Amino acid sequence: MNTTLKGLISSFTKSVDIYNYLLKNHHRRTAIAAYHIGKAMNLSDHEISDLVIGAALHDIGALTVQERDDLVQMDVENPYPHSMLGCYMLESFEPFQPISRILFYHHWPYDQDYNWNREKGKVPLASYILHVADRIEILIDHDQHILTQKEKVKTIIHSYKGTLFHPAVVEAFDMVSLQDIFWLDIENMSMNALLKSAISSSMEVELSLDMLEQFAFTISKIIDVRSKFTISHSYGVSAVSYHIAALLGYSDQKKREIRVAGLLHDIGKIAISPSIIEKTALLDPLERSQVQAHAYFTSVILNEIEGLGDIGAWASNHHENHDGSGYPKHISNKTITEEMDIIAYADIYTALCENRPYRASLPTSEIISILSQHFTAKHGSRVFNIIKSNVDDIDVTCKNAILDGEIRYQEFEEFSKRTNNIA
Ligand SMILES: [Fe+2]
Ligand SMILES: [Fe+2]
Ligand SMILES: [Fe+2]
Repeated sequence: MNTTLKGLISSFTKSVDIYNYLLKNHHRRTAIAAYHIGKAMNLSDHEISDLVIGAALHDIGALTVQERDDLVQMDVENPYPHSMLGCYMLESFEPFQPISRILFYHHWPYDQDYNWNREKGKVPLASYILHVADRIEILIDHDQHILTQKEKVKTIIHSYKGTLFHPAVVEAFDMVSLQDIFWLDIENMSMNALLKSAISSSMEVELSLDMLEQFAFTISKIIDVRSKFTISHSYGVSAVSYHIAALLGYSDQKKREIRVAGLLHDIGKIAISPSIIEKTALLDPLERSQVQAHAYFTSVILNEIEGLGDIGAWASNHHENHDGSGYPKHISNKTITEEMDIIAYADIYTALCENRPYRASLPTSEIISILSQHFTAKHGSRVFNIIKSNVDDIDVTCKNAILDGEIRYQEFEEFSKRTNNIA
């Protein structure tokens, strides 16, 4: 495993892209506008890098809240919940801390005092740039040629100079808006091309396993904050996988990598609508195939991370079976490794251990009997035998992790309630 920060960033933007097509283009175009304005304001390479990453993820906090569709309108009624939630989601990853502050203030009006409820210090200049870039993007009508809209957009942005928008940012926008490349890039430049030119070389450094764990925890929030079941499930699978790997005598490095794979195994659920994830009734065939596609999206997201080694395959093959009857790749026991079996068993174990709306957590004897009858043919006996001989300890690990996930989710709900009261 030799991942860099740069690799993690493109997987982060990829996962947000998968979530929603509208948001994907909004993020991309806003980031390009922000990049040009930041360059015109002579920001350092490092500042440009943070600005562009912030812009590429800026509405990430809207993944769970209803106002997602409102964000692509000019007047956002209450932009603070998604700004604060975005900050909350990113701040647990150390290199993203300055970026999380940019998100926190990205709708902050220039003429308003920043001393409010949750003191975060001075508003970063990048937030003011992002605010203008975001509104430029909203003002562009995508049914008309972009070069015919320059004056209309400029007039509206100007009318808020010194009130909603920072005057120096509006002046920098005036400068860049004279060049057609500003507008044509907004319309045409890809996110990959932008990230390539904007991300500073300081982001090329190799990451430690500690950092990767911190990142996995952070990116897992984009799916975890959407459902109480998802968070406790990811925590359970992660902890049980680690426990099994320890019982099998794996090295410390390998155990931790398996724990990361467990935490991220369902990250592809970002592609499924929350109403399906939360549905307690039987799924119809279309819903079922949408749910099954999550394993494919887990691999799409994790494949973006260059140098991740086998972690991506361990995570995304958790629904593959030895007899080839699994999904999405239908691979068979020739290519299924023991690490994949660990995640697969941890996934089933945790699911059976969870309280579901339609049934309570199952006792260990029943879990073992279900695993032995229905899953040993699919996932082999070696991992099963280890679980069977240590089921009481594994059960404690699993229940503690589920509880931990529930507590995290409560914290998030309380945070959301608090932010929704700020208007
Ligand atoms: Fe926003
Ligand atoms: Fe936005
Ligand atoms: Fe899954």
